[in-house]
Order: sequence, then structure tokens, then C-alpha cells
Amino acid sequence: MLKLLSPNKVQMDLYGLFQVSENLVVLEATVASGLEPLAVSEIKEKVPFISQLCRARGRVFFSTYVEHVQQILMLRSIDHLYLIVSTGKDINLQEKDSALSSVEKLIEFPNWNKVIDIWRSVSKFKGKCFPSKEEYLEASLKETSLKQIVQDLWKEREVIEVTEKQHVDKESTVCGGHKFKDKRNELKQSIMRKIDRKSMYRNSDQRLEEDKVLKFRMTCYRSGNHCVTSQEVACSLGGKLQEKFNWIVDLVNHDLEVVTNIREDLVYLGISLTPDSLHRRNIINFGPTTLRATVCYNLLRLASPNPGDIILDPLCGGGSIPVEGAMALPGCYNMAGDIHPMAISRAFENIQNMRCERKGYIDLSHWDVTNLPLRNACVDIIVTDLPFGKRSGSKQNNQNLYQKAMLEIGRCIVPSGRAVCLTWDRANLTRTIRAYGSLWSIVRIATINLGGLQATAYVLKRGLESLDTILEKLQKRKRRK
Ligand SMILES: C[S@@+](CC[C@H](N)C(=O)[O-])C[C@H]1O[C@@H](n2cnc3c(N)ncnc32)[C@H](O)[C@@H]1O
Repeated sequence: MLKLLSPNKVQMDLYGLFQVSENLVVLEATVASGLEPLAVSEIKEKVPFISQLCRARGRVFFSTYVEHVQQILMLRSIDHLYLIVSTGKDINLQEKDSALSSVEKLIEFPNWNKVIDIWRSVSKFKGKCFPSKEEYLEASLKETSLKQIVQDLWKEREVIEVTEKQHVDKESTVCGGHKFKDKRNELKQSIMRKIDRKSMYRNSDQRLEEDKVLKFRMTCYRSGNHCVTSQEVACSLGGKLQEKFNWIVDLVNHDLEVVTNIREDLVYLGISLTPDSLHRRNIINFGPTTLRATVCYNLLRLASPNPGDIILDPLCGGGSIPVEGAMALPGCYNMAGDIHPMAISRAFENIQNMRCERKGYIDLSHWDVTNLPLRNACVDIIVTDLPFGKRSGSKQNNQNLYQKAMLEIGRCIVPSGRAVCLTWDRANLTRTIRAYGSLWSIVRIATINLGGLQATAYVLKRGLESLDTILEKLQKRKRRK
């Protein structure tokens, strides 16, 4: 169903995108693979002008006017946005030296001023984009001393942490050997450390924004067999860019990320317009199975919601689907619940973190999906992420849970209502849907890559028959057997 273009076809189409008018820019939007058609439909619906569009696995390329870039950054289905600045034609990737020198040509194009202007207007960078050699040398020295200050502060902090830890260990041994080694706390601390190191850097930097020199990082993404590694390409191209523009290389605290993509025979260079993935917009308290906001949006979109619809997520975990629903679909109302008290408190925290006016669009309950405190046919849409039987639940439990859950949500949804159920346990869900005859019909199936895990989103439609009639038919069928 999801027909994707071959690398050669993408190459042709990408070159085609570059043939368009000078006033247009070429963009690449990334999305979890399997969800490209949904990203395409959102782009077509919300971007006022698109000249051409093509898609590949996990990516959509299109050209538009530069003034629409800010609007594109507000799209909810995409993770990252890149401005594509050049593509390589007839690059020989079989021999190392010639491959590297051909790839280096990617940076030899005349429009760097225009590209940096676009990036600057998006990133709000106020420093020097094209510094002189002297400005670069001076700024490099400052960066080195700043890094040293952060390094020293960091060491001091580590000493304090070790002392504190020894103190806690000693105390916990005294209290009957009970150690507070909660994995979640460790994780929280490691996240805190990252934040702290960055903010330490920011706090130690006393320079005016205008005096800073652009810091960049070169990244290379590569798939297929080539004679060069991603690191070799990144080093070589990064070196050339540094020489060309006097930019400072900084892999951690960079302002600009330049990205080379080598996919089979397709080679192109882009700059990132999204320093952080756009999926990091809603959730502050993550659980073991938290879904990306962008994936949640695409699942909601699969259900084709209409204004006024009541949307239910009966297995909401930390609430990523209802939170995204409340943010993205202002005309709809969201109901959500979970059986696990920890999931409920996570969801509560995530809802509290929302903008005030949107919080009221979610109702959160502690419940069991197999016995929902809801009357028949009271919700229009169900969008949910079933326990996969991997990180959450087990395949054995799934059989029982899926059967009871599909029956119960079939009771609560209106006739012809749409349900989108995401699962990794395809066998159990397919078996359940088949077993219930006319209760559910499959409208569409999309396989989605969730960080290497192949999940499947089932788009289902509730049949028109009442639950009593369906159950009666099932009983009769059982008796006949
Ligand atoms: C895959 S997780 C959902 C993750 C969620 N979409 C998120 O992003 O946080 C499945 C959830 O189903 C919940 N669950 C399992 N059995 C349940 C039941 N009988 N009733 C309600 N919730 C249940 C689990 O507690 C878990 O939070």
C-alpha cells in the first residue's frame, strides 16, 4: 500500500526539485517510516504552496516559497526539517579518494548567503555568520577557555556527587542495608546531568550574542555499501567548510548542523532547521513505552477526526495520544485512562504541563479497559497503543486482553465509528478482529518503524450491528461447532 520511490527515482525527482524557480527552496521532512503518506497529506493540506513533492523511506522532499518555512515548522506529523542546499550528480562512490573529493564538491555552490539567511531567520542566531580569520581565532580561544571553565566546574560537581553518594550509601547501610538504587532515578539523574552541563556552558558564557562566531557540526547519514565511512565524509567535508567560512567546529554546543546524506547512489547536502526533533513538544514525564508526539498525531490523523468528535484512548500510558489530541485537534474532546497507577500519575503530570486552555480538553480516569465505566456508543473515535507484549505486557496476556478490550471498546464506540489500534502483536490482534465477525472491519493497515521495532497500526471501522446481535451470532456459531 505504501509505495515508496526507489533511490534512483528519488534522485531524479530531487534533481527535478532543484530545477525549479530561484525563489523556491527545497526541503526534506523526516517522519517515522510507514507514515510518509500522512506527512504528505498534512504538507499538502497546510502548506499554502508546493511546487513539487516526492517521497522516500522516512522522508518527504518538496519545494516551496521561503516565506512558508515557519509554517512548515508548525506541522505536527514531521520530526525534522532540512533545507536541501545541493545534490551530487554522477558521484563515484567506489574509490575512496575520488569519492571524498566528489562529495566535497557538494559545498561548492554559490547560494550560501541565501541559505544562511534562511537558517538565521529560523534559528534567530545573532552572531557572526561569516567571520574574518582574526575573529575566528579570537572566538576559538574564547571557546577553549570556556570549555576549560565548564570542565573544571564539572569535575567539582562530580566530587560533590561522589561525596553525597557515599553519605547516602553509608546511611542506607545503617538502615538495614536498604539501598536506593532505583533505575528511574539513575535515568533522571543522567538526564539532569546532560541538562546541567549544557546550562553550565550557557551560564559561563558572558559574551554578547552579537560577538559570537557561528559554531557548526557536520553529520553524515549513509545507507548502502560505499568505500567511505560516514565519519570520513563528515571529517572531510567539515574541514572544508571550516576553512571556507571560518566557522568553529563544535559537536555538542553547535548553532548549525550541516548534514550530508549518502543513500545508495543519492548524495545531497542539507542544513537542519530543527535543532531538536519536533516530536519533543508535549511530554515531560516519559515512561517505558511513550510514543512520539509526531507518531501520535499521525495515528490520530489515520482516524480522520471531525470537529466535535469524542476521542478515547483507553490504554493511555503517560497520555501521549490524548495530550497530542488536545493540542492538535481543538474541536475534539479526549477521554483517556489506564489500569496502572504510575501511568496515571505520569499522564497527570504531562497534562498539567500543557498550556492552560488545552488542559480542559482531556478527561483522565483510572480504569480497566475490559470494564469501562462508560455507556454504550458514547465515543466517536478510539486511538490507542495496545501493550505490544514486548516492553509492556506479554503475548500470552495479550490474547486475553485483546479479546476483552476489543469487545469492550466495540461496545463504547458509535456504529461506523473509527478505531486506530497500534500493536506489535499483529497475530493476536488479527485473530481477535476475525473472531468477532462483523464487530470490526479492517479499513487500512500501516506498518510503522518505531526505533527499529516494526509496529502495525490497524485502522478499523465498527460495524452497524448491536453488540447483543454480534454476541448472539457468536454463540450460535460456537454451538454449531
Ligand atoms: C503501550 S502502553 C501505552 C503507552 C502510551 N501510548 C504512551 O505513549 O505512554 C500500553 C498501556 O496499557 C496499559 N494497560 C494494560 N492493561 C490494561 C488494562 N487492562 N486496562 C487499562 N490499561 C491497561 C498499560 O498500563 C500501559 O500503560
